[in-house]
Amino acid sequence: MLKKLFRKKNIDSKSDDKLNRCLTSFDLTLLGVGCIIGTGIFVLTGIAAANQAGPAVILSFLASGFACAFAALSYAELSSSVGGCGSAYGYTYVAFGEFIAWIVGWILLMEYGMSIAAVANGWSGYFNNALIAMGIGLPDVLTKPPSLGGIINLPASLIILMIMILLIIGIKESAKFNKVMVAVKVSAILIFIAFAMFNVNPENWSPFMPYGWFETLPSGKTVGVLAGASIVFFAYVGFDAVSTAAEEAINPQRDLPKGIINSLLFCTIIYIIVAALLTGVVPYQELNVSSPVAFALAKIGFPWASALVSTGVIAGLATVMLVLYYALTRIIFAMSRDGLLPTSLSSVNPKTQTPIKTILICGIFISTVAGFTSLGTLAEIVNIGTLSAFVIVCLGVIFLRNNSSTSNKSTFRNKWHPIVPVLGIISCSLLMLFLPIQTWIRFLIWILIGVGMYFVYSYRNSKLN
Ligand code: ALA
Repeated sequence: MLKKLFRKKNIDSKSDDKLNRCLTSFDLTLLGVGCIIGTGIFVLTGIAAANQAGPAVILSFLASGFACAFAALSYAELSSSVGGCGSAYGYTYVAFGEFIAWIVGWILLMEYGMSIAAVANGWSGYFNNALIAMGIGLPDVLTKPPSLGGIINLPASLIILMIMILLIIGIKESAKFNKVMVAVKVSAILIFIAFAMFNVNPENWSPFMPYGWFETLPSGKTVGVLAGASIVFFAYVGFDAVSTAAEEAINPQRDLPKGIINSLLFCTIIYIIVAALLTGVVPYQELNVSSPVAFALAKIGFPWASALVSTGVIAGLATVMLVLYYALTRIIFAMSRDGLLPTSLSSVNPKTQTPIKTILICGIFISTVAGFTSLGTLAEIVNIGTLSAFVIVCLGVIFLRNNSSTSNKSTFRNKWHPIVPVLGIISCSLLMLFLPIQTWIRFLIWILIGVGMYFVYSYRNSKLN
């Protein structure tokens, strides 16, 4: 039994190429950028600055960026040595065997599913602001979940169903759509930078660190730069999505590491600049709004630039959802092909070359979650799941390096081994510790359900059985 739990996939085990190989390293970088820049920078920056870190939210971004960099280097190494579909899931199957792989896959399902719902919430904030500007804003009951006094976040729910339809049409069309949207999103950021940089009031940066590094208030709320880091970490979620596209990459061994590292680097630079400018043009206390970037531009006297940026953000967040959704369906595809989830989930429609059934099931489920859960709750769940997956990936690198049959296969090896994965494990674990206890409880319940599922279904139906 124990032996079966840790049965491993062969590093060379090739899957039948059912998906279309059409993505270059540039496409993969764009896939990453499309996924990374989103609700984190456009919404959570303001919220974390106002509630947790003040202008020092810049340091929060740096801190979580560092944790991601270590994880990214580990991801890159694993993706170049192991390859194969399924992100951290596929890698752990090779390194640690089936049971751990199942747990990681199960965590990734939560991470991706909940992050799509979280981004839909951020999208809904900007979308409704745009409607308000046109005089046709939706009432609060239709834009807020029950926990915030509404009935349903209707725009969040509906946008997911629209993305679902796009994905059903097929990856080629979606990758093209992604390119255009990334351009729009980056333009929105550049417009913000161009206007904000000449309107900075350095007094807004003082006090720079009003809440210190970390403190738990009597109410149980955590504040400080590090508490902020555990929230804005969400802004980096997604670079790992690049690795789930391995089966659609033309040359995954060479291009995946490039795509992962380039997209993370690009986004980190952008985040630091945006966070500095945002807290430089508006007092941080005022940034606790659903569309802080647009709010800041309007506040310094550029309502039309604010509208323009909002439009870009609305389009940009749609891309994030698209890429995350794409990654989610590919993880399910991989798990189902391995027999850990029902095999019907990996059937590909011959005409569109997409797993239609999986896309439909995910769409309906996530759309419901997005309508009834708040952004804060969703972001915290995503962060704890992602951070735990990162820790396992870093462990995987250490493990594979010590295994001579696999360590030679890597086309990308970081020079600072084992410092990089060890620092990755430490920094990601620390960020997890700064998350609230409720988040931990929700996470552990999800893991328990996963363990149950494994023994009821996956253990017996696994292809390796
Ligand atoms: N990193 C992505 C975002 O911020 C998930 O929206």
